[in-house]
Amino acid sequence: MIVSLMVAMDEEQGIGKDNQLPWHLPGDLKNFKKITMGHHLILGRKTFESIGRALPGRTMLVLTSAPQEPQENLRFFSSISEATQFAREAGEEEVFIIGGANIYHQTLELADRIYLTQVQTIVDADAFFPKLDRSLWISTEKVLHTEDKYQWSFEILNRVS
Ligand SMILES: NC(=O)c1ccc[n+]([C@@H]2O[C@H](COP(=O)([O-])OP(=O)(O)OC[C@H]3O[C@@H](n4cnc5c(N)ncnc54)[C@H](OP(=O)(O)O)[C@@H]3O)[C@@H](O)[C@H]2O)c1
Repeated sequence: MIVSLMVAMDEEQGIGKDNQLPWHLPGDLKNFKKITMGHHLILGRKTFESIGRALPGRTMLVLTSAPQEPQENLRFFSSISEATQFAREAGEEEVFIIGGANIYHQTLELADRIYLTQVQTIVDADAFFPKLDRSLWISTEKVLHTEDKYQWSFEILNRVS
């Protein structure tokens, strides 16, 4: 199973403000939906509260120290290894870690691939992606998108083996 991180960050690695995304980029959300559809997604409890619901067509694996009863397409885990094991045992081929900052800091070293949206602005963020050592990653694709309020590039990074 491939472990992938998916993130949208500004030019200073800002990813969130007041437990919300600091931008509204419909094109990027559409891209997120297309890539993650049908997969298991791992996320922190705060990001889950920010999204506010289980996303249709995906299985959300929420990390929290206070797990709750499972619901349709929604499960709670008290460790990252339990969540990844659940996805693996379900036959997942690519699990997506979708944030937030706390979870990215704990999982960057586990990732085989990063789906990186680089938003061409600097926002007043209070949540940040960890520093990315570009020498560890090979860019396989980079496309510039101009349809939203801010321009953003979408890049797929694979870990150098
Ligand atoms: N731009 C993007 O791509 C993007 C993507 C996602 C999120 N975000 C932003 O990121 C911000 C949220 O990030 P955050 O760092 O505040 O919170 P977070 O990472 O979403 O969630 C943190 C919570 O996850 C749980 N947790 C963390 N590590 C755990 C572990 N090893 N085992 C079990 N549970 C664990 C804890 O929940 P309990 O307190 O319940 O124990 C912790 O309080 C928001 O602003 C959001 O909008 C941005």
